[in-house]
Amino acid sequence: MRSVNSTLRLVRSFVKRGGRTTAAQSKALEDLWPAFGVDSGTQTIEPDVLFGRLAPLTLEIGFGDGEALIHRAMNEPDRDFLGIEVHPPGVGHCLMLAEAQGLKNLKVMRQDAVEVLKQRLPDACLDEVLIWFPDPWHKKRHFKRRLLQEEFASLVASRLSSTGRLRFGTDWQPYAEHALQVLSEHASYRNASPDGTYVTRPSDRLLTKFERRGLRLGHGVWDLEFIRI
Ligand SMILES: C[S@@+](CC[C@H](N)C(=O)[O-])C[C@H]1O[C@@H](n2cnc3c(N)ncnc32)[C@H](O)[C@@H]1O
Repeated sequence: MRSVNSTLRLVRSFVKRGGRTTAAQSKALEDLWPAFGVDSGTQTIEPDVLFGRLAPLTLEIGFGDGEALIHRAMNEPDRDFLGIEVHPPGVGHCLMLAEAQGLKNLKVMRQDAVEVLKQRLPDACLDEVLIWFPDPWHKKRHFKRRLLQEEFASLVASRLSSTGRLRFGTDWQPYAEHALQVLSEHASYRNASPDGTYVTRPSDRLLTKFERRGLRLGHGVWDLEFIRI
């Protein structure tokens, strides 16, 4: 297994995509950032200092419009949530929802999640990592952009607590098969699925925007849950 500090992130899992940031989203990005935002940078984040308490911490990577993240944070006040997304309209949308719900257990970052994991989060600080409908990167020449690779799985494992979980959902079967293989072969995880394949769709996930899109296109949905060992 390669070290988590080697070649990881010469290639990013996202490209700047279009999509207009509405006036309301721009305003939220400006006005609500001090309450919910964690500035980009390299300094270590201490979750207990950030949230002002010690609670199980969920990290959602690539939260999109943030609706599923907000849903979890509203329904689980005893848990803290850190969301990472690089697409400004989505971050703005999420901030507006967080403000409307008066959430105290949610913080948001606009930075490459791989950088955050590598440089900013301490070992074993996460109880749960969520990756819902990551960019599938359909073309073979783009497979290297897929977030879930062996090295990334090692990086996540190092930041998960001894009983932490990595949960992953996709509507793209080849990516599901790739992720299942990577995680099944990884020494730091065991599959939560009784048959060693996929788990049933989690009831705590609000239907996400990209999940809805996949269903509209007639795609299936594949969910994985792997427990740190
Ligand atoms: C296909 S969208 C899915 C969004 C949402 N989870 C959903 O299901 O609707 C993937 C999102 O992940 C974000 N993303 C991809 N790589 C990322 C990274 N390394 N760090 C932060 N966000 C990332 C993209 O900006 C994009 O919004």
